[in-house]
Amino acid sequence: MDESQLDGDLVDVLFTEAEIQVKLREMAARIEEDYAGKDLLMVGVLRGAVMVMADLARALGRHVEMDWMAVSSYGSGTKSSGVVRILKDLDTDITGRHVLVVDEIIDTGLTLSWLISNLSSRNAASVEIATLLRKPDALAMPVEPRYVGWDIPDKFVVGYGLDYRERYRNLRSIGTLAPHIYS
Ligand code: PRP
Repeated sequence: MDESQLDGDLVDVLFTEAEIQVKLREMAARIEEDYAGKDLLMVGVLRGAVMVMADLARALGRHVEMDWMAVSSYGSGTKSSGVVRILKDLDTDITGRHVLVVDEIIDTGLTLSWLISNLSSRNAASVEIATLLRKPDALAMPVEPRYVGWDIPDKFVVGYGLDYRERYRNLRSIGTLAPHIYS
């Protein structure tokens, strides 16, 4: 769907579908250069990263493998303590592999800092992060993504995989959710 079908749910459109695709092609070009001559395993973090994975992988003019992880905090209080639970682990043995974790947003950084430390203990050749969005003002844990699409303000954004109560993930653009929707 696009924002015209949302009936005023967004305050603004941060990034259009076209802008997102241009950004992903730029990121893909850098990834191609950095991983030239190396195998590459992209690991998407369900569920939000589905769109980024699909478009970033297809923007690559090279072979790539894809696998998926699903992680979750135990409850609302647990995420702030940094405890993350694996709901679906990789099907792939990453020993000796070059792993690129793909997510659509780094907010507090808790999810990816935990995930990186988990994956780093599995003897991968390298573990790096590609994220479309990052909220520098919300960062609570040190996470250093190698590829970042855009830094954005600490506002509630939806679309292109990002949800509010599981809705808006299929919005083609990324926008700021109007406060009357969630307050
Ligand atoms: C989102 C997003 C990141 C994480 C970022 O996932 O996909 O993985 O939150 O937040 P953090 O930096 O504060 O940890 P979420 O847990 O909402 O699940 P989803 O992908 O299924 O929407």
